[in-house]
Amino acid sequence: MSEKKQQEETRSGRAVRRWLYAGLGALVLVLGGAYLYRIDAVNRLLGTAHEVGEAQQAGERSREAREKFRKTSEKLAASETNVANLAIPTGSDGFFAPPLEDEIPEDDFGESIRRGREIFLNPGANATEFVGNSLACANCHLDAGRRPNSAPMWAAAGMYPTFRGKNQMINTMEDRMNGCFTYSMNGSQSPSGGPPPPGHQIYKDLESYFHWLATGAPNRVDLPGSGYPTPDKPEADYDPARGEKVFEAQCAVCHGDDGQGRQDMNGRYAFPPLWGPDSYNWGAGMHRVNTAAGFIYANMPLGLPYSLSPQDAWDVAAYINSHERPPDPRQTGSIEEGDPGMSVAEAAERFHDHMGYYGREVRGTVIGAGQDAEPADAPSATGTVVPEQ
Ligand code: HEC
Ligand code: HEC
Repeated sequence: MSEKKQQEETRSGRAVRRWLYAGLGALVLVLGGAYLYRIDAVNRLLGTAHEVGEAQQAGERSREAREKFRKTSEKLAASETNVANLAIPTGSDGFFAPPLEDEIPEDDFGESIRRGREIFLNPGANATEFVGNSLACANCHLDAGRRPNSAPMWAAAGMYPTFRGKNQMINTMEDRMNGCFTYSMNGSQSPSGGPPPPGHQIYKDLESYFHWLATGAPNRVDLPGSGYPTPDKPEADYDPARGEKVFEAQCAVCHGDDGQGRQDMNGRYAFPPLWGPDSYNWGAGMHRVNTAAGFIYANMPLGLPYSLSPQDAWDVAAYINSHERPPDPRQTGSIEEGDPGMSVAEAAERFHDHMGYYGREVRGTVIGAGQDAEPADAPSATGTVVPEQ
């Protein structure tokens, strides 16, 4: 082989390799880009997120089911048919299909529904006085309370009043919402110092929204897709140390290495905090490992539901809930001796007979005393960016 030919060959070899690398690079870019596009990352961070494609498609598919329901119910009102013909509106995913936003009536009731929806999406801005962190109802009840297996509001609406073990009494829907304001939204550290008082317009508007979402749903039936579907506790139990690895690999990209979320250019959270002073408090349902495991299993990482194994979901739930967060408002006083009020140990015994780390020792420290939110510094008045659908 002549030297020239050899040179040519190595040159063409190099060219081929270069093309290969370029191709690989392009593939990585395309795949990475597709993932970011899927989760709407750019718009979330720019603060211009408007739609969740998946939710929109599901909406389209359920439109037909709702149309059929409306026609039968109109006939029913005109006594041309009987109740047996009235089918439950069901989406193509097999779950109940709530009405779409453009079906909100143009009347006074519709106004209340719209206000309720706005509060649900951004309580920091629309219920400012009663919110003590930077979360939104819709951060834990996804797609504005529409998504099955994300404790959707169409499933909750027909289940209240009911008896609740947590406070040992009959709870109306207002009482139930009061609970999420007090604990999940850390209302006890809000500007007003508590959740909205009984009978407040905020409850009425939220209840209008939920009641409307449940249009056509049967009353007092535990519908498929209600609550969070917690998988059975794995045989290997749950473990925050294992969970830390899951967190780093699957969650930190959005929620931050320190779990404190990420804010957009306007200072609003594009990705909400999972612990620390601006998250849900020690009394919230989400601090229970089993509850968080169910939410995470069915809903996180965002855009990739059911992608974690039950073991990983339990472990990562244990990890995020083994960090300090705002105090349980039922507990006053600190771990320090001589402080008046209920100690963490007492509160742990009275209120925390469940799977969680309140009052337990984690990585060498007893946690539960709580981290105070500072409403003045926290961007809570602007809340979290929740995409419109
Ligand atoms: C940090 C997450 C979180 C936030 C924020 C949150 N919730 Fe909840 N919510 C929960 C959990 C957990 C449950 C219990 C679900 C279960 O165990 O089935 C729940 C349950 C509910 C229920 C009863 C659901 C049912 O099926 O019985 C209602 C109603 C509700 N929340 C309303 C609200 C409202 C209104 C807001 C905002 C003011 C809100 N939530 C904010 C986590 C949250
Ligand atoms: C692609 C980005 C992304 C990834 C990855 C992701 N999340 Fe989330 N997460 C979100 C967003 C956005 C919300 C709020 C949902 C909404 O408002 O629609 C959220 C909400 C939550 C919430 C309820 C709100 C709160 O702040 O407590 C928890 C808990 C949670 N995520 C845990 C996790 C865990 C655990 C993982 C890893 C297994 C994870 N997330 C991965 C984007 C993400």
